[in-house]
Amino acid sequence: MNNLRPVGVIGTGKYVPEKILTNSDLEKMVDTNDEWIVSRTGIKERHIAAPDQATSDLAYEAAIKALESAGMTGSDLDLIIVATITPDSSFPSTACILQDKLGAKGAAAFDLSAACSGFVYGLATATSFIQSGMYNNALVIGADCLSRITDYTDRNTCVLFGDGAGAVIVGEVPEGRGFKSFDLGAEGAGGSLLQMEGGGSRLPASVETVENKKHYIYMNGREVFKFAVRVMGTATIEVLRKAGLERTDVDLFVPHQANIRIIQSAMQRLELPEEKVVVNVDKYANTSAASIPLALVEAAEEGRMKAGDTVLMVGFGGGLTWGASVLVW
Ligand code: ACO
Repeated sequence: MNNLRPVGVIGTGKYVPEKILTNSDLEKMVDTNDEWIVSRTGIKERHIAAPDQATSDLAYEAAIKALESAGMTGSDLDLIIVATITPDSSFPSTACILQDKLGAKGAAAFDLSAACSGFVYGLATATSFIQSGMYNNALVIGADCLSRITDYTDRNTCVLFGDGAGAVIVGEVPEGRGFKSFDLGAEGAGGSLLQMEGGGSRLPASVETVENKKHYIYMNGREVFKFAVRVMGTATIEVLRKAGLERTDVDLFVPHQANIRIIQSAMQRLELPEEKVVVNVDKYANTSAASIPLALVEAAEEGRMKAGDTVLMVGFGGGLTWGASVLVW
């Protein structure tokens, strides 16, 4: 990868909806409490989209900021990838809706489905296109409105999720900077551990699917937890190996924000000190594809990376999938 055209992040933006749902709000909705949620997950609050906001609206706000920070407009883009599992509708894609709103005339646009790993999958896809010379400037967004597929009568899941969007512009960067390696993978055999069964071609929407709550997230939390802890470690080690780096070379670790205990177990395994790890799960909960870009962009806005720093992103999610990347900022 190092002999190819250097490709990295040249603009960043994020957006979360205004409405905040706190743990004490949830205490009024289901049999739960702040102490349980904080001690088991680290989550204190999450942002929830307004009734008239869809995923493309969150993505648009993040995209505008990313374009501004890159000094670009929509017409500079030749590729738009939206990683999401909550598109505005099955089709047209959320990326096509954005392409129109951003005035990115003629840009290729598609959605990518890899759940919480989707943003890293999107970065790898955009990087490959740009390295090959096919495109020059790509907008990669992780955006999800999980509140739309969350059952707010199920305490096992409703405390875990939030809405948001994070966007980056991917393009050519100076020699020595940019993406150094990716490690993407899947274990399709575990697909039923984390899924939304209804609404597709297997189980089209019907009165029955609605009555049986098939349009909500189902999750086997304990099994997903075990998978997460395992692949956060293995994917991190593998992506570092591919980049020819050691774990001590990492300046900033940007993990998927699903549960503080999963992040802490990765920190322990990789012997990473707290100051090198981005954590914002307390404010946003698990925002699926938006989680890693929200953490990355927030860290950038807080000045936690300087040019030349080694940033490691790693995520896992439905599929089951995982994705990791080493990026020299
Ligand atoms: N409030 C109070 N009690 C609760 C709540 C709640 N909100 N939720 C569950 N409980 C109860 C359970 O009913 C259970 O009670 P029981 O023993 O009487 O049956 C008890 O708490 C313990 O449940 P566990 O499942 O053992 O709790 P655990 O410590 O495993 O934490 C959690 C559950 C937080 C879901 C954890 O398993 C987890 O984080 N899993 C990973 C989830 C994840 O990362 N998903 C990412 C993918 S999301 C995506 O891709 C869209």
